[in-house]
Amino acid sequence: MADQKGKTILTGVKPTGAPHIGNYVGAIRPALRLAASHEKSYLFIADYHALNAVYDPKALKEDSYQVAACWLALGLDPAKTILYRQSDIPEIPELVTILSAVTPKGLMDRSHAYKAAKDRNAEENRDPDADVNMGLYTYPLLMAADILIANTDIVPVGKDQVQHIEFARDMAGYFNGAFKKNVLKLPEYQLEAGGAVLPGIDGRKMSKSYGNHIPVFIDSAARRKLIMKTVTDSKLPAEPKNPDENVIFQIYAHVGTPEEVQAMREAFEKGGMGYGDAKQKLFEALERNFEQPTAKYNELMTDRKKLDDILEEGAARARKVTRQTLSNVREAIGLRRIPE
Ligand code: TRP
Repeated sequence: MADQKGKTILTGVKPTGAPHIGNYVGAIRPALRLAASHEKSYLFIADYHALNAVYDPKALKEDSYQVAACWLALGLDPAKTILYRQSDIPEIPELVTILSAVTPKGLMDRSHAYKAAKDRNAEENRDPDADVNMGLYTYPLLMAADILIANTDIVPVGKDQVQHIEFARDMAGYFNGAFKKNVLKLPEYQLEAGGAVLPGIDGRKMSKSYGNHIPVFIDSAARRKLIMKTVTDSKLPAEPKNPDENVIFQIYAHVGTPEEVQAMREAFEKGGMGYGDAKQKLFEALERNFEQPTAKYNELMTDRKKLDDILEEGAARARKVTRQTLSNVREAIGLRRIPE
């Protein structure tokens, strides 16, 4: 990744409540590693994006704090990665207004999220635009503004988000073309490697909606209880077992050290590793990973002032860049620069 030095990386996270260890392994940990390996990194809470679907002030506020506390507790260094709320950056909605003037309506019509909503309505014989608000329809515009305003080079994404980055590039191109000036930088996406999927304690994919998840931030007793409830077959300790077919090992593989994981694999294959033992080892690995972050998370969640301070400072730092970008954009269209 040496060639990425000096580049700016940006990630937006929708505030959707506390994470489970599948979210951690599949999304949070890789993003933290990427942020740490780049000179300039931004991570923001996409609260305006959440607003399209959440009309609940308490939940929006609470979930936003949770996202901030979560990333900080899991190791985000706010001195290095600029952490802020989208809604604290007024340059973003202003850029949305400007981008909407150069963006063809047809581009929004092609958005996967909008098409999916229309398909669902068609299946249910409803009006194609039923329950589609303008926020959902123009979701890609807001996302492009998030990215372009920060002069972003790279956006790490899962497959489902690729189209959004392509649209952001398109919009930057429309703007630069319309005003014959290279003002907005064209961002690139980086597909997140792996995107590991963990099984939940019932063996299906770990998901809050199945209720089979192991939250990252819980106390040790609750954590132990969930591990002990994890499904296993009835093989006796002495019998050889296929590690790739058992849930304990599949979770352990992502939270144990490479040596520990290898040792458990061999012990299962050889015979002699019982599920009780394996559960204990998994519990210990989870404790090692999450006991301290849980304490830190709880501490942050009781200190909203501290979270506010961190987020405000992040916004102030981000705005040094976003004001600059917006000034350049305004100047290119024939508006005045933002007064210093
Ligand atoms: N759409 C992203 C998601 O659903 C969240 C997001 C909003 C985002 N703005 C962004 C991600 C800008 C990357 C860059 O996960």
